[in-house]
Amino acid sequence: MLDSSPAMKRVFLETYGCQMNVADSETMAGVLEKAGLTLTDRPEEADAVVLNTCAIREHAEQRVLGRLGEFARLKQRNPRLVVGVAGCMAQHLRKRLLDSRSRVLDLVVGPDGYRRLPELLQRAAREPVAEIRLDRDETYGDLEPKREPGVRAWITAQRGCDKFCSFCVVPYTRGRERSLPLEDLIRQVEGAVASGYSEVVFLGQTVNSYHDRTHDFADLLRAADRVAGLKRIRFTSPHPSDMSDRVIAAIAECPRVCPQVHLPLQSASDRILESMRRPYSFAEFTEVVRRLRSAIPEVALSTDVIVGFPGEGEPEFQATASALREIRFDSAFLFKYSARPDTRAWKWEETVSEDEKGRRLAELIELQHGISGEIHDAWLGREVEALVEGPARRDPGQLFGRTAQFKAIVFADDGTPAGALKRLRVVGATPVTLFGEPIATRAPGARVTIR
Ligand code: 5AD
Ligand code: SF4
Repeated sequence: MLDSSPAMKRVFLETYGCQMNVADSETMAGVLEKAGLTLTDRPEEADAVVLNTCAIREHAEQRVLGRLGEFARLKQRNPRLVVGVAGCMAQHLRKRLLDSRSRVLDLVVGPDGYRRLPELLQRAAREPVAEIRLDRDETYGDLEPKREPGVRAWITAQRGCDKFCSFCVVPYTRGRERSLPLEDLIRQVEGAVASGYSEVVFLGQTVNSYHDRTHDFADLLRAADRVAGLKRIRFTSPHPSDMSDRVIAAIAECPRVCPQVHLPLQSASDRILESMRRPYSFAEFTEVVRRLRSAIPEVALSTDVIVGFPGEGEPEFQATASALREIRFDSAFLFKYSARPDTRAWKWEETVSEDEKGRRLAELIELQHGISGEIHDAWLGREVEALVEGPARRDPGQLFGRTAQFKAIVFADDGTPAGALKRLRVVGATPVTLFGEPIATRAPGARVTIR
């Protein structure tokens, strides 16, 4: 039979949202190239454009809808352009795909449909296609991602989430939690090292609940730590309730696992935590912080906080502000609550106005800015080791790197190649960036006499 569909050759792929989506796009890029398609960074030259989308807050969805408007105009000029949406908005957009008369979208594909992307794109050139089934077993463990160049390789260790926090859409958009086999992950780490990456970051919605039926997350960290040639290991995001002693010991004992943990608090009011369905009290959270700090010297902690959740009055909000002052996180991602369809909290009445959410957010941003600044100032004069990433964005005469604590550090370009570790002394600090100077190393053979 003759295939009458137009040739599908070039695909433009754009990513929104979290690192998990970045890693998923790398999986999609690998699948597309293996099928003989090429990726282009110019949508106007593409046969298909695919947006990998995020649904975590309404603002993220608005950005994607704006971008789809631009592609609608492109499609008017080139009616054969296939417009696809992948990722977490697929469920919501399916209705639009099927309903809309002046159709822009040709394909919606959910997070478990990427294996068949080339075939779905070909079909979408002829008829609208929706592939949004969630698959309890899909891990893409056998697929070869096409990684973005850089010093850091993102490796998905676990997909989906079983926690069902009442505000969060992820369990609905990404489905049930499943872990990749440890052997597959270590093979990916070895592959990343062979391709020249210095650092790996294990990804999962609650990555420390990783379990492949034989190994837990501590086993994964210890196995990765033994991979020759790998310089650094990180992971994101762990869940406070899954921070077992075994995991803490692995972080503490593995020299390549960086002393940096992102620990989402969300709120410090026990009443709000309960209605958020977070399975810990504030006291239990601080106990996790205490165990981390006592086991891992110099550990940097960051967090996520939501303000304006239904029922959050001034006292509950102030409890969260005090918690930031008490715990002193190195940094915090602070969000205004955004009601999401499908979630438990979606139907709850919003009790905090947009203006009030804005005020609370601004208060926390200012508070955290001060704390981050003080923590950075305390690094002045100290020695750190930076993994060099390349020229600094603002000043190409400077190099940019990250300390073990994941702090951005900038120093004069002395020819250190990307991917190398460099010892620096901290000579300047702002709340977001450290400034370093190379530490003078003794000439080979020079003797130091100590009297
Ligand atoms: N509204 C605001 N923030 C949210 N997050 C998740 N869902 C929502 C929502 N509906 C935040 C949480 C989570 C981070 C990734 O995004 O703080 O830890
Ligand atoms: Fe969402 Fe909660 Fe799962 Fe995190 S743990 S992805 S906030 S449901």
